[in-house]
Amino acid sequence: MKILVTGGTGYIGSHTCVQLIDKGWQPVILDSLVNSKVSVIDRIESITGHRPPFIQGDVRDADLLGKLLLEHGIEAVIHFAGLKAVGESVAQPLRYYDNNVHGSVVLMQVMQQCGVKTMVFSSSATVYGHSSAPPWNEQVPTSPANPYGRSKLMVDHIMADVAAADATCAMTSLRYFNPVGAHPSGQMGEDPQGVPNNLMPYLSQVAVGRREALQIYGKDYNTPDGTGVRDYIHVNDLAKGHVAALAYSHERPGHHVFNLGSGIGHSVLDMLHAFGKACGRDLPYNFAPRRSGDLDAYWADPQHALNTLGWQVEKTIDDMCQDTWRWQSQNPNGYP
Ligand code: NAD
Ligand code: UFG
Repeated sequence: MKILVTGGTGYIGSHTCVQLIDKGWQPVILDSLVNSKVSVIDRIESITGHRPPFIQGDVRDADLLGKLLLEHGIEAVIHFAGLKAVGESVAQPLRYYDNNVHGSVVLMQVMQQCGVKTMVFSSSATVYGHSSAPPWNEQVPTSPANPYGRSKLMVDHIMADVAAADATCAMTSLRYFNPVGAHPSGQMGEDPQGVPNNLMPYLSQVAVGRREALQIYGKDYNTPDGTGVRDYIHVNDLAKGHVAALAYSHERPGHHVFNLGSGIGHSVLDMLHAFGKACGRDLPYNFAPRRSGDLDAYWADPQHALNTLGWQVEKTIDDMCQDTWRWQSQNPNGYP
Protein backbone atom coordinates (compact mmCIF):
# COMPACT_ATOMS: atom_id res chain seq x y z
CA MET A 1 0.00 0.00 0.00
CA LYS A 2 1.23 3.52 -0.84
CA ILE A 3 0.62 5.91 2.01
CA LEU A 4 0.97 9.67 2.15
CA VAL A 5 2.49 10.59 5.52
CA THR A 6 2.00 14.29 6.23
CA GLY A 7 4.41 15.53 8.90
CA GLY A 8 6.51 12.44 8.20
CA THR A 9 9.86 14.02 9.13
CA GLY A 10 8.49 14.92 12.58
CA TYR A 11 8.98 12.94 15.77
CA ILE A 12 6.06 10.49 15.59
CA GLY A 13 5.80 10.53 11.78
CA SER A 14 9.41 9.44 11.26
CA HIS A 15 9.06 6.47 13.64
CA THR A 16 5.81 5.52 11.92
CA CYS A 17 7.50 5.59 8.49
CA VAL A 18 10.01 3.01 9.76
CA GLN A 19 7.16 0.74 10.93
CA LEU A 20 5.29 1.17 7.64
CA ILE A 21 8.40 0.16 5.68
CA ASP A 22 8.88 -2.83 8.02
CA LYS A 23 5.34 -3.89 7.16
CA GLY A 24 6.19 -3.71 3.43
CA TRP A 25 4.15 -0.56 2.79
CA GLN A 26 5.49 2.49 0.98
CA PRO A 27 5.35 5.85 2.74
CA VAL A 28 5.57 9.08 0.73
CA ILE A 29 6.45 11.99 3.02
CA LEU A 30 5.07 15.52 2.78
CA ASP A 31 6.44 17.98 5.34
CA SER A 32 6.97 21.75 5.37
CA LEU A 33 9.97 21.31 7.75
CA VAL A 34 8.47 23.99 10.02
CA ASN A 35 9.40 21.77 12.99
CA SER A 36 11.74 19.10 11.63
CA LYS A 37 14.88 18.56 9.57
CA VAL A 38 15.30 16.88 6.20
CA SER A 39 18.21 14.77 7.53
CA VAL A 40 15.53 12.58 9.15
CA ILE A 41 15.12 10.97 5.71
CA ASP A 42 18.76 9.78 5.83
CA ARG A 43 18.07 8.17 9.21
CA ILE A 44 14.95 6.39 7.94
CA GLU A 45 17.04 5.07 5.04
CA SER A 46 19.87 4.02 7.34
CA ILE A 47 17.50 2.07 9.62
CA THR A 48 15.32 0.45 6.95
CA GLY A 49 17.50 0.37 3.82
CA HIS A 50 14.69 2.15 1.98
CA ARG A 51 14.60 5.89 1.17
CA PRO A 52 11.01 7.13 1.09
CA PRO A 53 10.15 9.87 -1.42
CA PHE A 54 10.14 13.27 0.32
CA ILE A 55 8.29 16.37 -0.85
CA GLN A 56 8.79 19.65 0.98
CA GLY A 57 5.45 21.43 1.06
CA ASP A 58 2.44 22.48 3.08
CA VAL A 59 -0.78 20.48 3.58
CA ARG A 60 -2.73 23.66 2.87
CA ASP A 61 -1.39 23.64 -0.72
CA ALA A 62 -4.26 21.88 -2.53
CA ASP A 63 -2.58 21.89 -5.96
CA LEU A 64 0.54 20.22 -4.62
CA LEU A 65 -1.52 17.66 -2.67
CA GLY A 66 -3.64 16.76 -5.69
CA LYS A 67 -0.58 16.17 -7.86
CA LEU A 68 1.08 14.14 -5.15
CA LEU A 69 -1.88 11.83 -4.51
CA LEU A 70 -2.29 11.06 -8.21
CA GLU A 71 1.38 10.85 -9.23
CA HIS A 72 2.26 8.49 -6.38
CA GLY A 73 -0.93 6.41 -6.58
CA ILE A 74 -1.69 7.09 -2.91
CA GLU A 75 -4.25 4.73 -1.30
CA ALA A 76 -4.34 6.06 2.27
CA VAL A 77 -3.12 9.04 4.32
CA ILE A 78 -1.65 9.27 7.81
CA HIS A 79 -2.00 12.89 8.85
CA PHE A 80 0.57 14.02 11.44
CA ALA A 81 1.26 17.53 10.09
CA GLY A 82 0.27 20.07 12.70
CA LEU A 83 1.51 22.51 15.29
CA LYS A 84 1.53 21.16 18.84
CA ALA A 85 2.70 23.70 21.43
CA VAL A 86 -0.16 24.39 23.85
CA GLY A 87 1.17 27.76 25.10
CA GLU A 88 1.83 28.97 21.56
CA SER A 89 -1.74 28.00 20.59
CA VAL A 90 -3.10 30.26 23.35
CA ALA A 91 -0.98 33.19 22.06
CA GLN A 92 -1.57 32.50 18.34
CA PRO A 93 -4.95 30.78 18.02
CA LEU A 94 -5.56 31.73 14.39
CA ARG A 95 -2.23 30.25 13.33
CA TYR A 96 -3.20 26.99 15.05
CA TYR A 97 -6.71 26.84 13.58
CA ASP A 98 -5.37 27.69 10.13
CA ASN A 99 -2.62 25.09 10.23
CA ASN A 100 -4.37 22.29 12.11
CA VAL A 101 -8.03 22.68 11.11
CA HIS A 102 -7.89 24.40 7.72
CA GLY A 103 -4.92 22.19 6.76
CA SER A 104 -6.94 19.05 7.58
CA VAL A 105 -9.98 20.32 5.64
CA VAL A 106 -7.87 21.00 2.53
CA LEU A 107 -6.35 17.53 2.84
CA MET A 108 -9.75 15.83 3.12
CA GLN A 109 -11.13 17.87 0.18
CA VAL A 110 -8.25 16.82 -2.06
CA MET A 111 -8.53 13.20 -0.89
CA GLN A 112 -12.22 13.29 -1.86
CA GLN A 113 -11.42 14.75 -5.30
CA CYS A 114 -8.79 12.05 -5.90
CA GLY A 115 -10.86 9.16 -4.52
CA VAL A 116 -8.60 8.45 -1.52
CA LYS A 117 -10.91 7.16 1.21
CA THR A 118 -8.75 6.20 4.19
CA MET A 119 -7.22 8.62 6.71
CA VAL A 120 -5.60 8.09 10.10
CA PHE A 121 -5.28 11.28 12.14
CA SER A 122 -3.10 12.35 15.11
CA SER A 123 -5.57 13.37 17.76
CA SER A 124 -4.74 13.70 21.43
CA ALA A 125 -5.84 12.81 24.95
CA THR A 126 -5.94 16.57 25.44
CA VAL A 127 -9.42 16.58 23.79
CA TYR A 128 -10.93 14.96 26.90
CA GLY A 129 -12.55 17.05 29.60
CA HIS A 130 -10.90 17.34 32.95
CA SER A 131 -13.70 16.16 35.19
CA SER A 132 -13.54 12.38 34.71
CA ALA A 133 -11.56 10.08 36.98
CA PRO A 134 -8.92 8.02 35.16
CA PRO A 135 -8.60 5.69 33.35
CA TRP A 136 -10.07 7.54 30.36
CA ASN A 137 -11.84 5.53 27.67
CA GLU A 138 -13.12 6.91 24.35
CA GLN A 139 -16.49 7.79 25.93
CA VAL A 140 -15.07 10.33 28.38
CA PRO A 141 -16.78 13.66 27.58
CA THR A 142 -14.62 15.93 25.43
CA SER A 143 -13.90 19.47 26.54
CA PRO A 144 -10.41 20.62 25.58
CA ALA A 145 -8.95 23.50 27.58
CA ASN A 146 -6.95 25.37 24.92
CA PRO A 147 -6.92 26.20 21.19
CA TYR A 148 -4.51 23.34 20.39
CA GLY A 149 -6.85 20.80 21.98
CA ARG A 150 -9.89 22.40 20.35
CA SER A 151 -8.19 22.26 16.94
CA LYS A 152 -7.75 18.47 17.40
CA LEU A 153 -11.36 17.98 18.50
CA MET A 154 -12.68 20.06 15.59
CA VAL A 155 -10.84 17.80 13.14
CA ASP A 156 -12.21 14.70 14.93
CA HIS A 157 -15.75 16.09 14.44
CA ILE A 158 -15.12 16.97 10.79
CA MET A 159 -13.82 13.45 10.13
CA ALA A 160 -16.95 11.96 11.71
CA ASP A 161 -19.13 14.15 9.46
CA VAL A 162 -17.14 13.19 6.34
CA ALA A 163 -17.48 9.49 7.20
CA ALA A 164 -21.22 9.93 7.82
CA ALA A 165 -21.70 11.63 4.44
CA ASP A 166 -19.75 9.04 2.42
CA ALA A 167 -20.26 5.44 3.47
CA THR A 168 -17.06 4.38 1.70
CA CYS A 169 -14.72 6.62 3.78
CA ALA A 170 -12.66 5.27 6.69
CA MET A 171 -11.66 8.05 9.07
CA THR A 172 -9.69 7.11 12.20
CA SER A 173 -8.72 9.40 15.07
CA LEU A 174 -5.93 8.15 17.32
CA ARG A 175 -5.86 9.86 20.71
CA TYR A 176 -2.29 9.68 21.95
CA PHE A 177 -1.43 9.96 25.61
CA ASN A 178 2.20 11.03 26.30
CA PRO A 179 4.52 9.88 23.49
CA VAL A 180 8.18 9.58 24.57
CA GLY A 181 11.25 7.48 23.77
CA ALA A 182 13.28 7.05 20.61
CA HIS A 183 14.18 4.43 18.01
CA PRO A 184 16.24 1.68 19.73
CA SER A 185 19.04 2.22 17.17
CA GLY A 186 19.68 5.68 18.67
CA GLN A 187 19.38 7.16 15.17
CA MET A 188 15.96 8.82 15.55
CA GLY A 189 14.32 10.63 18.43
CA GLU A 190 12.63 13.80 19.58
CA ASP A 191 14.49 16.98 18.61
CA PRO A 192 12.59 19.99 19.93
CA GLN A 193 13.68 23.47 18.88
CA GLY A 194 14.52 25.85 21.76
CA VAL A 195 13.77 25.08 25.40
CA PRO A 196 11.69 21.88 25.61
CA ASN A 197 8.20 22.26 27.09
CA ASN A 198 7.78 18.57 27.80
CA LEU A 199 9.22 16.40 30.52
CA MET A 200 11.23 13.78 28.63
CA PRO A 201 13.11 16.04 26.20
CA TYR A 202 13.90 18.39 29.11
CA LEU A 203 15.15 15.50 31.26
CA SER A 204 17.33 14.16 28.46
CA GLN A 205 18.87 17.60 27.89
CA VAL A 206 19.68 17.75 31.62
CA ALA A 207 21.28 14.31 31.34
CA VAL A 208 23.45 15.36 28.40
CA GLY A 209 24.50 18.62 30.11
CA ARG A 210 22.57 21.08 27.92
CA ARG A 211 20.34 22.15 30.89
CA GLU A 212 21.24 22.52 34.55
CA ALA A 213 18.38 20.84 36.39
CA LEU A 214 14.82 19.65 35.91
CA GLN A 215 12.13 21.88 37.41
CA ILE A 216 9.38 19.64 38.73
CA TYR A 217 6.13 21.56 38.42
CA GLY A 218 4.30 20.93 41.69
CA LYS A 219 4.90 18.55 44.59
CA ASP A 220 1.48 18.63 46.26
CA TYR A 221 -0.73 17.00 43.65
CA ASN A 222 -3.22 14.40 44.76
CA THR A 223 -0.93 11.52 43.67
CA PRO A 224 1.13 8.94 45.62
CA ASP A 225 4.34 11.05 45.57
CA GLY A 226 2.76 14.49 45.01
CA THR A 227 4.04 14.93 41.42
CA GLY A 228 1.90 14.78 38.26
CA VAL A 229 0.99 11.38 36.83
CA ARG A 230 0.71 10.66 33.09
CA ASP A 231 0.49 7.70 30.72
CA TYR A 232 3.83 7.60 28.87
CA ILE A 233 3.88 5.57 25.66
CA HIS A 234 7.01 4.57 23.71
CA VAL A 235 7.01 6.18 20.27
CA ASN A 236 7.70 2.80 18.62
CA ASP A 237 4.61 1.28 20.25
CA LEU A 238 2.68 4.34 19.10
CA ALA A 239 4.05 3.92 15.56
CA LYS A 240 2.91 0.27 15.56
CA GLY A 241 -0.52 1.48 16.67
CA HIS A 242 -0.75 3.48 13.43
CA VAL A 243 0.06 0.42 11.35
CA ALA A 244 -2.60 -1.59 13.22
CA ALA A 245 -5.18 1.20 12.87
CA LEU A 246 -4.51 1.61 9.15
CA ALA A 247 -4.71 -2.16 8.48
CA TYR A 248 -8.01 -2.32 10.36
CA SER A 249 -9.70 0.79 9.03
CA HIS A 250 -8.71 0.42 5.37
CA GLU A 251 -11.14 -2.52 5.25
CA ARG A 252 -13.82 -0.87 7.40
CA PRO A 253 -15.44 2.43 6.44
CA GLY A 254 -16.78 4.69 9.19
CA HIS A 255 -15.38 6.94 11.89
CA HIS A 256 -13.19 5.15 14.40
CA VAL A 257 -11.64 6.54 17.58
CA PHE A 258 -8.93 4.79 19.60
CA ASN A 259 -6.99 5.80 22.69
CA LEU A 260 -3.33 4.86 22.36
CA GLY A 261 -1.70 4.59 25.77
CA SER A 262 -0.33 1.95 28.13
CA GLY A 263 -3.09 2.11 30.74
CA ILE A 264 -0.49 2.81 33.43
CA GLY A 265 0.26 6.13 35.12
CA HIS A 266 3.77 7.17 36.13
CA SER A 267 4.78 10.22 38.15
CA VAL A 268 7.40 12.84 37.30
CA LEU A 269 9.63 11.34 40.03
CA ASP A 270 9.18 7.83 38.52
CA MET A 271 10.41 9.18 35.18
CA LEU A 272 13.30 11.08 36.79
CA HIS A 273 14.48 7.93 38.58
CA ALA A 274 14.08 5.72 35.48
CA PHE A 275 16.10 8.22 33.45
CA GLY A 276 18.80 8.36 36.14
CA LYS A 277 19.07 4.57 35.95
CA ALA A 278 19.32 4.69 32.14
CA CYS A 279 22.09 7.30 32.05
CA GLY A 280 23.93 6.00 35.12
CA ARG A 281 23.72 9.02 37.43
CA ASP A 282 21.25 10.89 39.63
CA LEU A 283 19.89 13.85 37.70
CA PRO A 284 19.66 17.27 39.38
CA TYR A 285 16.16 18.64 39.98
CA ASN A 286 14.26 21.11 42.08
CA PHE A 287 10.63 21.73 42.84
CA ALA A 288 8.90 24.67 41.20
CA PRO A 289 5.30 25.93 41.40
CA ARG A 290 2.57 24.08 39.52
CA ARG A 291 2.34 24.82 35.80
CA SER A 292 -0.95 26.44 34.94
CA GLY A 293 -3.45 24.08 33.28
CA ASP A 294 -1.75 20.85 34.46
CA LEU A 295 -3.89 18.06 35.93
CA ASP A 296 -3.04 15.79 38.87
CA ALA A 297 -3.24 12.48 37.07
CA TYR A 298 -4.68 10.74 34.05
CA TRP A 299 -4.00 7.65 32.02
CA ALA A 300 -5.68 5.72 29.22
CA ASP A 301 -8.11 2.88 29.18
CA PRO A 302 -6.60 1.19 26.09
CA GLN A 303 -9.06 -1.79 25.99
CA HIS A 304 -10.79 -0.66 22.80
CA ALA A 305 -7.50 -0.65 20.85
CA LEU A 306 -6.61 -4.07 22.29
CA ASN A 307 -10.00 -5.65 21.58
CA THR A 308 -10.44 -4.13 18.12
CA LEU A 309 -6.94 -3.68 16.69
CA GLY A 310 -5.14 -6.36 18.69
CA TRP A 311 -2.68 -3.63 19.65
CA GLN A 312 -1.11 -2.99 23.02
CA VAL A 313 2.12 -1.47 24.28
CA GLU A 314 5.19 -3.68 24.63
CA LYS A 315 7.71 -1.26 26.14
CA THR A 316 8.27 -0.11 29.72
CA ILE A 317 9.39 3.25 31.09
CA ASP A 318 12.90 1.77 31.40
CA ASP A 319 12.87 1.06 27.64
CA MET A 320 11.61 4.61 27.01
CA CYS A 321 14.42 6.13 29.09
CA GLN A 322 17.18 3.85 27.74
CA ASP A 323 16.20 4.55 24.12
CA THR A 324 15.87 8.29 24.74
CA TRP A 325 19.30 8.31 26.38
CA ARG A 326 20.87 6.36 23.49
CA TRP A 327 19.43 8.90 21.02
CA GLN A 328 20.37 11.95 23.10
CA SER A 329 23.90 10.80 23.96
CA GLN A 330 24.65 9.84 20.33
CA ASN A 331 23.09 13.08 19.04
CA PRO A 332 23.61 15.67 21.79
CA ASN A 333 22.47 18.51 19.53
CA GLY A 334 19.72 16.56 17.77
CA TYR A 335 19.59 16.09 14.01
CA PRO A 336 22.22 17.78 11.83
P1 NAD B 1 6.40 17.22 15.24
O1 NAD B 1 6.33 18.71 15.32
O2 NAD B 1 7.69 16.55 15.50
O3 NAD B 1 5.86 16.73 13.81
C1 NAD B 1 4.89 17.43 13.08
C2 NAD B 1 5.45 17.63 11.68
O4 NAD B 1 4.48 18.33 10.89
C3 NAD B 1 6.72 18.47 11.68
O5 NAD B 1 7.71 17.77 10.95
C4 NAD B 1 6.31 19.76 10.96
O6 NAD B 1 7.38 20.29 10.20
C5 NAD B 1 5.15 19.30 10.11
N1 NAD B 1 4.14 20.33 9.78
C6 NAD B 1 3.50 21.17 10.63
N2 NAD B 1 2.61 21.91 9.95
C7 NAD B 1 2.68 21.52 8.65
C8 NAD B 1 1.98 21.89 7.46
N3 NAD B 1 1.04 22.84 7.48
N4 NAD B 1 2.29 21.28 6.31
C9 NAD B 1 3.24 20.30 6.27
N5 NAD B 1 3.94 19.93 7.35
C10 NAD B 1 3.65 20.51 8.53
O7 NAD B 1 5.26 16.66 16.22
P2 NAD B 1 4.96 15.17 16.68
O8 NAD B 1 5.22 15.09 18.14
O9 NAD B 1 5.57 14.20 15.76
O10 NAD B 1 3.37 15.17 16.52
C11 NAD B 1 2.75 14.68 15.35
C12 NAD B 1 1.25 14.91 15.48
O11 NAD B 1 0.77 14.28 16.66
C13 NAD B 1 0.87 16.39 15.61
O12 NAD B 1 -0.32 16.61 14.87
C14 NAD B 1 0.62 16.55 17.10
O13 NAD B 1 -0.31 17.58 17.35
C15 NAD B 1 0.05 15.19 17.47
N6 NAD B 1 0.24 14.83 18.89
C16 NAD B 1 1.49 14.88 19.44
C17 NAD B 1 1.67 14.59 20.80
C18 NAD B 1 3.03 14.67 21.44
O14 NAD B 1 3.09 14.74 22.66
N7 NAD B 1 4.13 14.64 20.69
C19 NAD B 1 0.56 14.22 21.57
C20 NAD B 1 -0.69 14.14 20.98
C21 NAD B 1 -0.84 14.46 19.62
N1 UFG C 1 6.75 18.49 33.91
C1 UFG C 1 7.68 18.94 34.83
N2 UFG C 1 8.75 19.67 34.39
C2 UFG C 1 8.94 19.96 33.07
C3 UFG C 1 7.99 19.50 32.13
C4 UFG C 1 6.90 18.77 32.59
O1 UFG C 1 7.53 18.70 36.03
O2 UFG C 1 9.93 20.64 32.73
C5 UFG C 1 5.62 17.66 34.37
C6 UFG C 1 4.26 18.25 34.08
O3 UFG C 1 3.85 19.13 35.11
C7 UFG C 1 3.38 17.00 33.97
C8 UFG C 1 4.34 15.95 33.39
O4 UFG C 1 5.66 16.44 33.66
O5 UFG C 1 3.00 16.56 35.26
C9 UFG C 1 4.19 15.75 31.88
O6 UFG C 1 4.27 17.03 31.24
P1 UFG C 1 4.51 17.16 29.66
O7 UFG C 1 4.65 18.62 29.37
O8 UFG C 1 5.61 16.26 29.23
O9 UFG C 1 3.17 16.56 29.04
P2 UFG C 1 1.65 16.99 29.25
O10 UFG C 1 0.98 15.83 29.94
O11 UFG C 1 1.51 18.30 29.86
O12 UFG C 1 1.09 17.10 27.74
C10 UFG C 1 1.50 16.22 26.68
C11 UFG C 1 1.60 17.05 25.38
C12 UFG C 1 0.24 17.51 24.96
C13 UFG C 1 -0.65 16.30 24.80
C14 UFG C 1 -0.71 15.53 26.09
C15 UFG C 1 -1.52 14.29 25.84
O13 UFG C 1 2.43 18.18 25.59
O14 UFG C 1 0.31 18.13 23.70
O15 UFG C 1 0.60 15.18 26.53
O16 UFG C 1 -1.81 13.67 27.03
F1 UFG C 1 -1.89 16.68 24.43
